[in-house]
Amino acid sequence: MGSRIIGTGRALPALCLTNSDLERRLDTSDEWIRTRTGISQRHLLGQAESLVDIATQASRQALLAAGLEGSQLDAIIAATVSSEYAFPSFACQVQRELGLSSIPAFDVAAACSGFLYAMAVADHALRGGGWKRVLVVGADALSTMVDWSDRRTAVLFGDGAGAAVMAFEPGPRGILDTQLRAAGEAWNLLSVRATGTRAPADAHARREAADALKMRGPELFKVAVKSMEEITRLVIERAGLSVGDIHLVVPHQANLRILNAVAERLGIPPNKVFTNLDRYGNTSAASVPIALDEACQAGLIHTDDLILLNACGGGLTWGASVMRW
Ligand code: ACO
Repeated sequence: MGSRIIGTGRALPALCLTNSDLERRLDTSDEWIRTRTGISQRHLLGQAESLVDIATQASRQALLAAGLEGSQLDAIIAATVSSEYAFPSFACQVQRELGLSSIPAFDVAAACSGFLYAMAVADHALRGGGWKRVLVVGADALSTMVDWSDRRTAVLFGDGAGAAVMAFEPGPRGILDTQLRAAGEAWNLLSVRATGTRAPADAHARREAADALKMRGPELFKVAVKSMEEITRLVIERAGLSVGDIHLVVPHQANLRILNAVAERLGIPPNKVFTNLDRYGNTSAASVPIALDEACQAGLIHTDDLILLNACGGGLTWGASVMRW
């Protein structure tokens, strides 16, 4: 008795900023960004765009792929730290844009691990029998939170949204195990003091420097590698599998060096790790569902494949989930 992803979708803002574009604004270089992070470009929310609209597009695609109407959903869970308002929640805004009413809609805030956290909440509810079909959306716009004069952070993040429809399904397919962790004592490795992404007018100067994203990059790098390695081993073991059984890892796209280090420690060959951060940067809670949708469309995921998702982000939070597709 479990839950399975039955459809995925993704959507990105129109504006694309390349490393060369950044070279003109900051004391940085394409070479530094590519070799230290693996990122070549990222999409940024434009002034006329709304992250809710983008998340709604991704949600419609996921519903289409699942062969469902929105009216067949029992709940909407949005993983985001970029809600336009303190309230209403982002999920309520997506619900309205989808033309739905009455079903529960709420947000889960776990930064880059948000999609895994939201999926776990949906999985528990579906296993519990209360809901049959849940829309899980991952959406973030951290470009609205960085200090655009700080080269240490401005080059890393992109904006976007991904979505997945999860359904109750008895039988061998679906989520086999999920583990989540948090370490609030390490909150100051990555934090943003201010909330809300809607009101400020200029996408490139939306924050006072004091309110902008603060990150202790090198420390976070080490914690991310260690925590993702450990929790990935744990879910594989708890599912009664070995590392060699995994067909594809779809990780949070933080930094190519983090992904390579985790894969190397686990003994997973690079061709089994899906990456797209060269094109999108770190899209926080959107990165796993965007990557999952691209991997599906690229024909890299087949029925019965064992798929592993993992992530680490602000909070600190981290988690991993293994599923039979
Ligand atoms: N362009 C050029 N030089 C730069 C840039 C830049 N964009 N950014 C930093 N530098 C310089 C620094 O100023 C420093 O120079 P200095 O020695 O003269 O002071 C030098 O490069 C090295 O800086 P470090 O911060 O030590 O560089 P590092 O190799 O650790 O790479 C990075 C920085 C990419 C941020 C890395 O620490 C990292 O990826 N950490 C993980 C952070 C992360 O992924 N955060 C995302 C959210 S959390 C998550 O998703 C897991």
